[in-house]
Amino acid sequence: MATYPLKVLRRRQESEDAVSLWLDVPNDLRTAFTYRTGQFIAIEEEFDGEEITRQYSLASVPGLDEHLHISVKRIPGGRMSTHLVDSVADGDLLEVVTPRGRLYTPSQEPRHILLLAAGSGIVPLLAIARDALHSGAGHRVTLVYGNRHTDSVMLREEVEALAADGAVVEHVLSRPDPSWTGARGRVDPAYLESRWAQWTAECGLPVSAYLCGPEAFMSDAEEFLTAHGVGIDDIRKESFDLVLDDDGDEADLLVPGDAPAAEPEPCTLLTAVLGGENIEVTPEPGEPLLSALLRVSDDVPFSCQEGTCSSCIVKLTEGQVGVRPGVTKTLRPADLEEGLILACLSRARTESVHIDFDDI
Ligand SMILES: Cc1cc2nc3c(=O)[nH]c(=O)nc-3n(C[C@H](O)[C@H](O)[C@H](O)COP(=O)(O)OP(=O)(O)OC[C@H]3O[C@@H](n4cnc5c(N)ncnc54)[C@H](O)[C@@H]3O)c2cc1C
Ligand code: FES
Repeated sequence: MATYPLKVLRRRQESEDAVSLWLDVPNDLRTAFTYRTGQFIAIEEEFDGEEITRQYSLASVPGLDEHLHISVKRIPGGRMSTHLVDSVADGDLLEVVTPRGRLYTPSQEPRHILLLAAGSGIVPLLAIARDALHSGAGHRVTLVYGNRHTDSVMLREEVEALAADGAVVEHVLSRPDPSWTGARGRVDPAYLESRWAQWTAECGLPVSAYLCGPEAFMSDAEEFLTAHGVGIDDIRKESFDLVLDDDGDEADLLVPGDAPAAEPEPCTLLTAVLGGENIEVTPEPGEPLLSALLRVSDDVPFSCQEGTCSSCIVKLTEGQVGVRPGVTKTLRPADLEEGLILACLSRARTESVHIDFDDI
């Protein structure tokens, strides 16, 4: 996969186990590193002879911030996060993959942007909050941020600035010091229920919800929100640690879904647009699009190869594919209707299939 060396301009210790890093994008890489709010970059590093790639969301917002800003929490025993939190210093170079992802689609109509974050899940949601507040579209922003204690709060300065810019910010701590006067407990359905009437009565705008945190936290919040009238396509989630269930013999989802569900034809031509170039390959029968493409190109973006990291998100522009049902943990029904798929979970069903990595 293509990586580019970016220099660490500054590091800021967020807490004992988290760090913020600001990365410089040199002029000749500015086009490649053009990004949208809420996207992530990936960092590649070798550990004991093994190259690993991990994704990190951007806390920075295009147009508001000059440099890329990531914020990383150390996972106990985690190779990349421990390296970034403990060892990376100002002036170091990191090997970085260009931004990907599709968490945030800005709305021009005023919305109530409800952001539910836990732990490092604050990173992309902070960017979305800042973008929404500065968009001039009249959005109302409510951020609920769950942590264990005050020391685990990341991006404290930036979160405080949101409140000063007009957002409602609620910290919820599960193990606070005795002196803590804010909300105690978890950002769970009971908490959401206790706050819902006030949030919605004060505002009256339709809700666009963004969730980022552990899987159980997000699925409980999603269930609460849909039960309270928020449409499934108005809820977006990003998982940092998703593990897909084995979907066994469950039938693939067809994209596009309205085409007749004929038996798959052997695919003789898979073409992909990537970085303005065309790549062509003939996939093996039943082979995921991603692995076929990796046989002919080193530049195809990927990491987990199991539908959890979103790195291989791509637009289907011609033909039909079958996508493993687990994709719905990562993409919304509206994304699939738009032709967005994950290359690692998709298999060709028509003689020719055309996909575009640049148009997401
Ligand atoms: C789209 C996306 C955006 C992300 N953005 C951020 C971000 O902004 N900030 C950030 O700190 N992290 C973020 N992550 C998580 C990050 O990519 C790594 O997964 C994380 O840093 C752990 O990598 P590692 O190499 O240190 O751990 P590994 O060596 O991969 O794993 C060590 C152990 O920890 C477990 N583990 C891995 N990741 C997590 C996790 N997130 N939570 C709990 N347990 C885990 C593994 O199952 C394993 O047992 C993001 C992930 C994705 C997919
Ligand atoms: S490679 Fe991670 S979702 Fe496809």
